[in-house]
Amino acid sequence: MKVLLTYTSMTGRNEKIANYLADYLKEKGADVDLEEIIDTDAFGLTDYDAVIVESYTYHDGEVPDEAQDFYEDLADVDLERTKFAVLGSSSKKHIHFGRAVDYFTMQLNSSNGEQVSDSVKIDQDPDEDDFKRVRDLGDRVLKSLK
Ligand SMILES: Cc1cc2nc3c(=O)[nH]c(=O)nc-3n(C[C@H](O)[C@H](O)[C@H](O)COP(=O)(O)O)c2cc1C
Repeated sequence: MKVLLTYTSMTGRNEKIANYLADYLKEKGADVDLEEIIDTDAFGLTDYDAVIVESYTYHDGEVPDEAQDFYEDLADVDLERTKFAVLGSSSKKHIHFGRAVDYFTMQLNSSNGEQVSDSVKIDQDPDEDDFKRVRDLGDRVLKSLK
């Protein structure tokens, strides 16, 4: 079970969540590559059994600048039904709460990925309930690979 977890984080929340999720998946036996979106080649996603994308939302409901190239490249990729899930911490204090999560979810679906979990939006710092939703997302990804 080869899983890519690619994330972007400016102030550290999504980095912390990504580390938590990667550790959880590894405990469950998955082979996880954890990397930042800026280092991720969208055309390499089909090397994985499943891909998890995690991003905050910036500006007025936009994909962060450093994730734009990856996001745009996804439009030219055929994911060949690679399983995927999307999550991200953003903030309800801003308009368009977590819209980068929606953008990635839509793009990965249009690029012929297979969504295996509802997307998870977290308001700023994750609480216990959020961590449970993160684990549930991980469980759904792993279940889809069995
Ligand atoms: C200038 C600025 C603009 C933001 N715009 C949005 C936004 O449009 N929608 C949203 O949901 N969150 C927005 N946020 C909130 C961040 O997505 C949120 O703080 C997130 O938890 C940051 O994640 P990180 O710690 O991984 O960088 C914005 C934050 C800043 C500083």
